[in-house]
Amino acid sequence: MCGIVGYVGTKNCAPILIDGLRRLEYRGYDSAGLAVYDGTRINVTRAIGKLRNLEAALAAAPLTGTTGIGHTRWATHGRVSEANAHPHVAGEIAVIHNGIIENHLALRARLVKDGAKILSDTDTEIIAHLIDAQCRKGLSLEDAVRAALKEVEGAYAIAVIRKSEPQKIVVAKNASPLVLGLGEGENLCGSDIPAVLPYTRRVIILEDGQMAVLTADAVRVTTVDGTPVDAQVKTIDWSPAMAEKSGYKHFMLKEIHEQPRAIEDTVRGRLDRENGDIVAEEIGLSPELATKIERVYLVACGTSSHAAMVGRYYLERLARIPTVVELASEFRSRDPVIGPGDLVVAISQSGETLDTLMAAKIAKEKGAKLLAIVNVMGSAIARASDAELYTRAGPEIGVASTKCFTAQMVALLMLAVYLGRRRGTLPAARAAELVEGIARLPQQMRDVLTGTRQLVLHLARRYMDARDVLFLGRGASFPIALEGALKLKEISYIHAEGYAAGEMKHGPIALIDANVPVVVLAPKDEHHDKSMSNLQEAKARGGRIIAIASEGDEDVHGLAEEVVEVPVVDPEFTPFLTVIPLQLFAYYVADLKGTDVDQPRNLAKTVTVE
Ligand code: G6P
Repeated sequence: MCGIVGYVGTKNCAPILIDGLRRLEYRGYDSAGLAVYDGTRINVTRAIGKLRNLEAALAAAPLTGTTGIGHTRWATHGRVSEANAHPHVAGEIAVIHNGIIENHLALRARLVKDGAKILSDTDTEIIAHLIDAQCRKGLSLEDAVRAALKEVEGAYAIAVIRKSEPQKIVVAKNASPLVLGLGEGENLCGSDIPAVLPYTRRVIILEDGQMAVLTADAVRVTTVDGTPVDAQVKTIDWSPAMAEKSGYKHFMLKEIHEQPRAIEDTVRGRLDRENGDIVAEEIGLSPELATKIERVYLVACGTSSHAAMVGRYYLERLARIPTVVELASEFRSRDPVIGPGDLVVAISQSGETLDTLMAAKIAKEKGAKLLAIVNVMGSAIARASDAELYTRAGPEIGVASTKCFTAQMVALLMLAVYLGRRRGTLPAARAAELVEGIARLPQQMRDVLTGTRQLVLHLARRYMDARDVLFLGRGASFPIALEGALKLKEISYIHAEGYAAGEMKHGPIALIDANVPVVVLAPKDEHHDKSMSNLQEAKARGGRIIAIASEGDEDVHGLAEEVVEVPVVDPEFTPFLTVIPLQLFAYYVADLKGTDVDQPRNLAKTVTVE
């Protein structure tokens, strides 16, 4: 996830672009850059690190001009470096990009063969060269962008300027956000409304497959194929603070709703739907290594450790590899027996959690292979590892992790499918089903978000004064019960416990009375009958049962006080759907109680102490 911004008008644009980037910094912040046309040429300044480094560079050598583009980066392809920072230049062209170009390797090989000099590791520079090549054939910038995009597969929001067509920005979008801001004698574009809001409240939200040409006096929208579009102009009445959160009250709620997009980005270019497989190069483990692994350790803290527990189900069921889940702090507090036959997977949103980092280092010292599943490119855990599988959820700002949790689960599922195929434990037909299932997941998650929101809000109102809440789950729903309890306790400060449903009889059942809501995860899977028995046992003790169940499950309706339904899906995908109402429940309870949802007391987003 990156942030892009563009300005064309009569004012000196660099301060406007910097201001826009500051408002988009929540989208990424490992490097930033501007390209500004000064009346003769396009000048580019880029700097790694926070935006203030770019500002310092500009203070030393200002860029002047009234047409320009700016970018704040969240690395996905290529490490954090000045060469990989945007804008990227090829010939007369400068480009900024948010998204992931899936066929960039093939395009790069062809461009290099044709003599292009590619200076960065990014997929974005490929777009610059493609457009430049079309311009050299005599096409206008608009037509060159159109022609270049025909060759590109993947997600993009781009803004492009050209030296010989000054006072013009061409933008296009597919699967990454892009907003146009309509001003008086000036027009802007940005990844999100906050970037343009100080200058205008009139915006056009571009749709996938659309592009636009911006000049100081006009904005013309077409499809990428060239058909004119009569775009709807909206007037935004958000405050700047609301705009940063896309209109949501808190980052956490925004991030809960970003999950379908986070999954889309995390799997983009990694699913081989033609062959029902996972693209090997994307996983970072060679097929040879995949067959040699004797055991997997999944090491993580907090929410990431719950994703690890779901991952264990995938690795055992699909790849038949003995898998151990370890809390990183405990792993490093013992003397674990691991060695060269083991694969240690360190799972971390931040990539900086000290316990996970130290556990990863111990594993490496003992000769294990280390794979990092992290969200922040170039983070300490990524740097320490032999291979990385990035979740591409974008920056997560709410302290309570949500979108990174589901992105981690899908990364682990892809890992399990990949290993299962290489090791011969996962039949081709089943792998193909799972790959298709992954592709369908974002839409199913959107359906759950819209379908359960109202009921969950009602439940939050009803149970917000509870003193204790129990969450029960079995199989892959057990970690979801733990995650539901963790979310509730960390932001609402209600005492909540997650238990394996089968363990209820060994203690937690003593806690149940008429004042204790019991959330039972009872989706239609192989454990359904047993989950129903546990549900009955809790009900018999007077517990107030809230069931998270599959659509149309009449048995549950007869027993539970409240039923939140999720669509019936292949059981491997159930955790992605059942966790959503639990995240929303925690959020609404906390919001109703008036706690500091995004920065709950005593907690930190990144824990770099032991
Ligand atoms: C903190 C955060 C949690 C997170 C955990 C692990 O406790 O508040 O949301 O799950 O750290 O962080 P990591 O960045 O390693 O996933």
